Amino acid sequence: EDHVIGVDLGGTKILAGLVGRDGSIGRTIEIPTPDGPQQEVLAAIDATVEDLLADGAAAIGYGVPLNIDRRTGIALRATNLPLHDVHFPNRARERYGLPAGVENDANAAALAEWRLGAGRGVSDLVMLTLGTGVGGGLVLDGRLYRGWAELGHIVVVADGEPCQGSCHGRGHLEAVASGLAADRAAAALYGPGAAAPELVRRAHAGEAAAIEALGRIGHLLGVAIGSLVNVFDPDVVVIGGGFGAAAGELVLGPAREAARREAIQPADETLRIVEARLGEDAGLIGAGLVGFEALDGER
Ligand code: BGC
Ligand code: NA
Repeated sequence: EDHVIGVDLGGTKILAGLVGRDGSIGRTIEIPTPDGPQQEVLAAIDATVEDLLADGAAAIGYGVPLNIDRRTGIALRATNLPLHDVHFPNRARERYGLPAGVENDANAAALAEWRLGAGRGVSDLVMLTLGTGVGGGLVLDGRLYRGWAELGHIVVVADGEPCQGSCHGRGHLEAVASGLAADRAAAALYGPGAAAPELVRRAHAGEAAAIEALGRIGHLLGVAIGSLVNVFDPDVVVIGGGFGAAAGELVLGPAREAARREAIQPADETLRIVEARLGEDAGLIGAGLVGFEALDGER
């Protein structure tokens, strides 16, 4: 029972690993998410799980960038992956005979940051993960909210640029503040092929154009955060995801400023907007915690 397998499925990579109840991470496997149809993506996930199963595990938890139907547990659809209508826990039970659970990836990250990271002990938390997409998770009244919390798909620019993947919306937070949005900003500055890591690297090195491009992303992120603060009055807003972790204060600084302007009580210096303490591992650890929930549910 010391550990479970957590699977953090992303639009760019699959990170799977052994996770302990205290959030400690053992052996991990990271592979690129296949650029193919559903069967290929599922086969890649299964391969990472089966590799880790050799070390023994009591349960499996999946964090996936899909909308989960919380009545049936079916992962319905994804914006940035060709996956739909998958029952991850049932598949795992059939294949491995182990208890398994599933949550939206950002909900899982919120759970991890609340239990073990930047939001320990608070009653209300808003999590935003900036990766290939933008994910959202909420802790409300001291419980993880099990609904979609698709905070990446709230509108920040009315009739703005089209959202990503299969999303037909416009001006969504994901369209302007995801890693893919940063890729586009990088390509606009440095030519086709340039991507977010270069933009972040140049900004960290002090290049004005790069700092400004990330500042624009941070500003729109902050506009969204201000609105979320007005709705949920959270104790803390936690920013994670691969791009979020890489950009750090370059995005968070401008975000704080915009959020303070939009929040109903702009003078409220107690509003905390912080980086995920578990960094890029929040999703993996959260998936592990979901695995432990499934394990405890069977006892
Ligand atoms: C999806 C979410 C997911 C997020 C981060 C969004 O495009 O709609 O379900 O949490 O990306 O992966
Ligand atoms: Na969510």
